[in-house]
Amino acid sequence: MPEQASANLWELSDLCTPWCIHVVATLRIAEHINAGKDQIDDLAAAAGCDPYALHRVLTYLVGKGVFEETTPGRFALNETARGLLDPRQRIGLDLEGIGGRMAYAWGTLLTYVRTGAPGYQELFGLPFWEDLDAHPRIGASFDALIGPTGHGIPNPEFQITGGWASVRTVVDVGGGTGAMLAEILRTRPEINGTLVDLPRTVALSGETFQAAGVTGRVTIVGQSFFDPLPAGADLYLLKGILNDWPDREAMAILTRCAEAARPGGRVVVLGGIGPENAPRALVIEMVLLGGKYRTVSEFRELAREAGLEVVAAERQPSGYFVVECRPI
Ligand SMILES: C[S@@+](CC[C@H](N)C(=O)[O-])C[C@H]1O[C@@H](n2cnc3c(N)ncnc32)[C@H](O)[C@@H]1O
Repeated sequence: MPEQASANLWELSDLCTPWCIHVVATLRIAEHINAGKDQIDDLAAAAGCDPYALHRVLTYLVGKGVFEETTPGRFALNETARGLLDPRQRIGLDLEGIGGRMAYAWGTLLTYVRTGAPGYQELFGLPFWEDLDAHPRIGASFDALIGPTGHGIPNPEFQITGGWASVRTVVDVGGGTGAMLAEILRTRPEINGTLVDLPRTVALSGETFQAAGVTGRVTIVGQSFFDPLPAGADLYLLKGILNDWPDREAMAILTRCAEAARPGGRVVVLGGIGPENAPRALVIEMVLLGGKYRTVSEFRELAREAGLEVVAAERQPSGYFVVECRPI
């Protein structure tokens, strides 16, 4: 067996590199270089920052393989630096948007590990979702990160037991700005859909449904998923939702789905559940929200208490681990 190289603790705990990358992304340094401002004084003037400090940051990053210093004080993009031009990368790095909330939140990891509960409020004054409501620009950048600009257009091709033929109505619970629902409706013209999410978020969904040409088949509901959900649909979708919440809240959301789906509907969960032997990952929603990733057997217990029975749970060709439940 090859010997495992021992890790260097100083390199592993280096905070300089991630902060430098966040700073140049926030200051749009790659964009300014791309626009021809490649000399340090012009670059600092364009970015509205201090030339001495910026020079130190860029030279440091050159040493890490990001940017090139072609002659002293003159910078160029290399392949890695060009990645900073991609809006998908930038949203998650920009310290003035959701990228800042995520970066600073790692500073609360000790609280999370000591207590099992997020330390977000200690740092930002409000719990995560309330903080986004209180700061609409940060909220909109979170919605953009989760939506097509950040995570891309979602794949609507997941399988359900017995196939989609009997499904005429879908409620996407916590469906964000509607990207997944728009794709489901675009690829299945016989289906009508309802988007449920917080009022601030559903208000940003119009363009997505319009672009997919499905506006006439969508109902938009700005409400909490802890309140009773629109009842009687064939399928309730929870994509990337339960992993944001501890057990008590996850069970409350599932209970709302079970009540609304009764008697003939189904609840389909994408994301946050995996097989028994899945590696125990540490992910940002744990630190931000006290969220949890669950094994199928952990989820089965939670679902049963919420009045749902798991009827299928498997990794599908789409890559989704799909868990389907029926009301008991
Ligand atoms: C991680 S995002 C997932 C969005 C979408 N389902 C997706 O997969 O892209 C979680 C969503 O839950 C929504 N959310 C958070 N708290 C909520 C609440 N109490 N009621 C309704 N939606 C909520 C957020 O606005 C956000 O859109």
